Amino acid sequence: MDALRHTFEQQLAAALPGVDITLERPRSGELGDLAFPCFRAAKQLGKNPAQLAQELVAAIRIEGAGLVAAGPYLNLKLAPETRAAAVLGAILQAPGDRPFGSRPPTGKKVIVEYSSPNIAKLFTIGHLRSTMIGHALAQVNQFLGHEVIRLNHLGDWGTQFGTLLAAYTRWAQDGNANLEADFDWAEPAPEKRRTPLFRLFQLYVRFHAEEEADPAMRDEARGWFRRLEEGDAEARRLWAWFREISLREFQRIYDRLGVAFDTLAQGEAFYEDRLVPTMDRLAAAGLLVEGDKGARIINLEDVGIATPCLVQKGDGTSIYATRDLAAALYRQEAYAFDRCLYVVGTDQVLHFQQIFAVLAKLDSWFQGRMLHTPFGMVKLPEGKMSTRKGNVIFLEDVLDEARERVAAIIEEKNPGLADKEAVAEMLGMGAVVFFDAMNDRVKPITFTWDRVIALDGDTGPYVQYAHARILSVLRKAGGTWAAQAQPGAPQGPCLPFAPLTLPADLGGLAAPEAQALLFELAGLPPAIAAAADGNMATPLARQLVSLARTFSGYYTNCPILAPENTPEVREARLALCVATARALRQGLHLMGIQAPEEM
Ligand code: ARG
Repeated sequence: MDALRHTFEQQLAAALPGVDITLERPRSGELGDLAFPCFRAAKQLGKNPAQLAQELVAAIRIEGAGLVAAGPYLNLKLAPETRAAAVLGAILQAPGDRPFGSRPPTGKKVIVEYSSPNIAKLFTIGHLRSTMIGHALAQVNQFLGHEVIRLNHLGDWGTQFGTLLAAYTRWAQDGNANLEADFDWAEPAPEKRRTPLFRLFQLYVRFHAEEEADPAMRDEARGWFRRLEEGDAEARRLWAWFREISLREFQRIYDRLGVAFDTLAQGEAFYEDRLVPTMDRLAAAGLLVEGDKGARIINLEDVGIATPCLVQKGDGTSIYATRDLAAALYRQEAYAFDRCLYVVGTDQVLHFQQIFAVLAKLDSWFQGRMLHTPFGMVKLPEGKMSTRKGNVIFLEDVLDEARERVAAIIEEKNPGLADKEAVAEMLGMGAVVFFDAMNDRVKPITFTWDRVIALDGDTGPYVQYAHARILSVLRKAGGTWAAQAQPGAPQGPCLPFAPLTLPADLGGLAAPEAQALLFELAGLPPAIAAAADGNMATPLARQLVSLARTFSGYYTNCPILAPENTPEVREARLALCVATARALRQGLHLMGIQAPEEM
């Protein structure tokens, strides 16, 4: 397909000297495989686009393909067997280490910073967004040949620790180094939440509730944070312990989600001894100005940002922004990256504008390398979620509920299924993660149980089902086809698929439904590229739905194992099945979703 595109581009360039040639994908395979929109060229040449398209039809010849002028578009459409050979060849004969559509190493380094939860809080459904959008972006960038560094800017420092320390020392029996043990709980916790982290969370919520009536508690919390920043041994000991409890639980969730980072050691606290050097650099660059009550700020009005960036409070303590500046400087030194993506909610747009502006003032090296990819918040029908107030939806509850709903359906429809529990988990996760990806990245999402864990319609399980259905066809086909039904365990960003020989006769794929499926398969690499460009999995998720839907039409209209099929037709149709299964599996894998072999 790449070679064909190249030939087409070359011929267009020869026919239209000096015109910028950009090809598109037609809306359907019916129209063609590649389209050249003539608008811009026509304007440049002072012609009518439809007339130009007509002229180009006469001027260009490409072997194995026909050219059609469709209004202002020049469409190139492959002959059915040429399309089949091009698409199946690209998928089935791709080298194992570089499957369909993946790119050779680019030498570019991309940092993807994502998830970044705050310590001592539980994962809510909101965290799923940063975690899974970030995971997909990391996967997709790696697939495109970039070296990807996966970082997690853990919120393990900041004033909230003052709150936690104050709450803990107030209400917990100290010396109780084990929050699981006898502890005078503010409220009883549900059975599955009797975890130390949940206990800390309860303390945090209680503190914020009581502080409303007793503002002196605020000073108490501030006092504790100061002690922590000053290195007070007791404050440090408890902080380290809170951090450890949290990490243990976060790790469990990351394992469940199949997400891993290069390191979890570079959270906010990691930059502690880099804060003074960072402030020194800011001072040396002449950027620091005295703000209210002795605070240090950086004015950004000259670059169009009205709110100055606060980098030090009046009492000398650091803030979130200071640690982000230190982190960026550290990453510059440690990774010499080409790009750094911050997968963080839309509520921090201003924060990142400020950080990037300050960095650009400090060193022009940062210009164009830093990118905040904001995502919309998850809201409840009744309003914002707030950890402080305790009205949140916990991620694990959502994953558990999704799994249970799937399990009930399996019990009803396919009780004999092997590995039922594992399959229910994969499908439940598929539903939740896919739902997230189908949403526009920046728009807020209103959470309702039925929407988030829906199993019908354009969902993860629908795509997973198409994959499992294909594998079941392959198992029935037996022989070497059945061996394709176990494509192996996921590894890295690409799944290792062994190359497969193409059937010599692809005549069995002439039907429109087979041709439509081939067209959708060819759409996967562009969808992955679009996901990387738009920094969101949405185009990939949509393409997978189209693929699954088109497969269903193929399955219905092009009998695969029908006894009246000639061996050639059967071979060709099975080869298309294998290609589709590989594409679905690869696409889901990039999104962080597993595809069960049976369901
Ligand atoms: N911990 C922060 C939060 O939960 C997100 C951190 C985002 N990353 C960053 N470099 N500031 O809101």
